[in-house]
Amino acid sequence: MLVECCHRVWQTSQPYLFLLWSNFMNLRPNRLAVMVCAGLLGLAAPLAMSWGPEGHAIVADIAQAHLDPAAATEVASLLKLEGFDRLDQISSWADGNRKEFPGTGSWHYVDIPLKADNYDATRDCVQGNCIVAKLDENTHVLADKTATPQARLLALKWVVHLVGDIHQPLHAEDNDDKGGNTVQVQFFGKGTNLHSIWDGGIIRQALSLQPGPHYTFDHAAVQADAMTLDAAITPTQRAAWATENLLPQIVDASIVWADESHKLAQDVAYVDIDKPSGDAWSQRYQQKAWPVIQTRLEQGGVRLAEVLNEALSN
Ligand code: ADE
Ligand code: ZN
Ligand code: ZN
Repeated sequence: MLVECCHRVWQTSQPYLFLLWSNFMNLRPNRLAVMVCAGLLGLAAPLAMSWGPEGHAIVADIAQAHLDPAAATEVASLLKLEGFDRLDQISSWADGNRKEFPGTGSWHYVDIPLKADNYDATRDCVQGNCIVAKLDENTHVLADKTATPQARLLALKWVVHLVGDIHQPLHAEDNDDKGGNTVQVQFFGKGTNLHSIWDGGIIRQALSLQPGPHYTFDHAAVQADAMTLDAAITPTQRAAWATENLLPQIVDASIVWADESHKLAQDVAYVDIDKPSGDAWSQRYQQKAWPVIQTRLEQGGVRLAEVLNEALSN
């Protein structure tokens, strides 16, 4: 196991790829072997780019539970092309394959200046290289029945991932700090950064999830947590969050979602971060941020279901 593990990580030099490989194959690699292996190779944590795998899986699970029959059938047949059967299995694909798709780093976010009021395409999405434009592009490929199944599956992987990321408040702002990636914090005794706690630290703290070796996570526990969040969504919220006819002007909806994220970064994420350390601060920050993150994951799930239902209707 140890040799096989080291060989694979060495071969790929890509911790995320290894994570996805082991997750998707439903393998439960020996924790110790993986940790020893990672330690030997001295792998550095990648720059936080996305909700962690737990956040993306929660959004995907909520959406999966609300697909209408036609969309569920189409999703199943696209996923089957690569042996998958659930959206959560592809929800972090975009993080694991950045090497294969160089130049896609900026697809995961939009750097709306923190002090600006709103998204401005000319300023924030130069040459269409931002999450707003890429979500639009990929949704159209997914909805295009004349595109090849392979192209539509690739588009599905992006749509599932990007609807998640656009709901992460720090994926729609920049304060000359790479969306909070360079703001160091001590969160519950652990040195990390502001972006990373919004991607995963706050979710794991709230749901008592342990990060697995190389970002693996407990699928069953996360699915159960997703269903708890889903059950808390009221019919009024559901109706307000996702209006029908998001398509073909999905770009308009994604601008609204990015602006919501940006406002939450201003009003919540960047408030009370003068001395971001210590237990009292961690508790206080956790208490204000978790309700916001819960809502963003729920909104992401509801809206992803609506996008897929519209894109994959007969
Ligand atoms: N890199 C630069 N800006 C970023 C952001 N807002 N989110 C994630 N990564 C980034
Ligand atoms: Zn991402
Ligand atoms: Zn991120």
